[in-house]
Amino acid sequence: MPIRPATADAIADAAAALREGRLVAFPTETVYGLGADATNARAVAAIYEAKGRPQFNPLIAHVADAEDASRFAVLGPEAQALAAAFWPGALTLVLNKQPDCAIADLVTAGLDTVALRVPSHPIARTFIRAAARPIAAPSANRSGHVSPTTAAHVEADLGAKVAIILDDGPSPIGVESTVVDVSGSQPALLRAGGVTREDIEAVLGTRLAVHYGDAERPSSPGQLASHYAPRTPVRLNASSARPSEALLAFGPVAADHDGPSINLSLTGDLIEAAANLFAALRRLDAAGAATIAVMPIPEAGLGEAINDRLRRAAVR
Ligand code: TXA
Ligand code: MG
Repeated sequence: MPIRPATADAIADAAAALREGRLVAFPTETVYGLGADATNARAVAAIYEAKGRPQFNPLIAHVADAEDASRFAVLGPEAQALAAAFWPGALTLVLNKQPDCAIADLVTAGLDTVALRVPSHPIARTFIRAAARPIAAPSANRSGHVSPTTAAHVEADLGAKVAIILDDGPSPIGVESTVVDVSGSQPALLRAGGVTREDIEAVLGTRLAVHYGDAERPSSPGQLASHYAPRTPVRLNASSARPSEALLAFGPVAADHDGPSINLSLTGDLIEAAANLFAALRRLDAAGAATIAVMPIPEAGLGEAINDRLRRAAVR
C-alpha cells in the first residue's frame, strides 16, 4: 500500500523518492497531484505514462514561492499583482520561461511558456521545500477520469505507479486551480478553478479574456471535451431524477429521489459544493445507475468551475 499519513518521516521519504526520479502523489488544497521532479525529463515522462495522458498537454510546475517562480519564468507587472494576491493558493500562472529555465521541455510540451503554481496546502509546501525541486504535477488520476480529492481516489487510479501517496485527508477546495495566461499582451482565463474570475478581475482591474480554446488543439488539458468523464452518462439541468437514475442534487429544494443521491450542498454553498464534487461523482458513478442526473448549479463564483467540470463530464 503506497498510502502513508503525511508525517515528517513520510514527507522526507517522498522528497527522496522524487529526487531519485520516482512519482509521488501529494495533497494540495485543490486536488491531489501526481508529482515528479520537473527538471528530470525521464521522471516527467513517467507521469504521462502513468496517467495515459496525451503528450500535447503541458503540466503545471509547483514551486515554493514567487521568488522560486522567478528562477524559471518572467513575472511581469500583472503576474506580480496576481501572485501577491493569490499565492500561495489555487491560481496557476502561464508565464514566459526564463532563457536558462531548468524545467524540462516535456513539462511545457515544448512551449516557450511555463505554468507555475505556489500551493497553499501545508503538506504540499513542506514537500516542495524538502524536495528542493520544482514539482511537475497534474491531478493524480488516470487521464479522462474524475480528479482525486482523497488518497484513496489516487490509490484506485494509480496505486501501482507511485512510490508514495502522502495522505492528509480530503482536498479542501476540491476543484483544480484557475489557470490564467499572463504571457501575452492581454491576460486570459484558460481554465476556471478554485480562485474565481471575479476575484482575479478585481485585482487586474479589467475583464479577463476567456480562451477555453477548442478541443482540436487544446492549450490546456481542461479543454479536452471529455476530460472529467465518469463511466455513467451524465444528464445536466435535471429538475428531478428518473427511477433508473442517480441524483446529484444541489441546494435546499432538492428533488425527492428513492435511488442513489448526493446533495453537493444542502445550504446551496458553492464552496462546499466544489469540495464535494469529484468524490460525489465517483460515488454516484459506482452506484450502477443508468444515468447521473445533475440539478442546475448557479454560474457565479465557484459555480463557473463546477459547471465547467460537469459539462465536460456530460460529453461522451
Ligand atoms: O489544481 C491544480 O492545478 C492541480 C494540482 C495538482 O495542482 N493540477 C492540475 O494540473 O490540474 P493539470 O496538469 O491537470 O492541469 C494543468 C493545466 C492544464 O489546463 C494545462 O493545459 C495548463 O495548465 N497549462 C500548463 N502549461 C501550460 C502552458 N504553457 N500554456 C497553457 N496552458 C498550460
Ligand atoms: Mg486533471
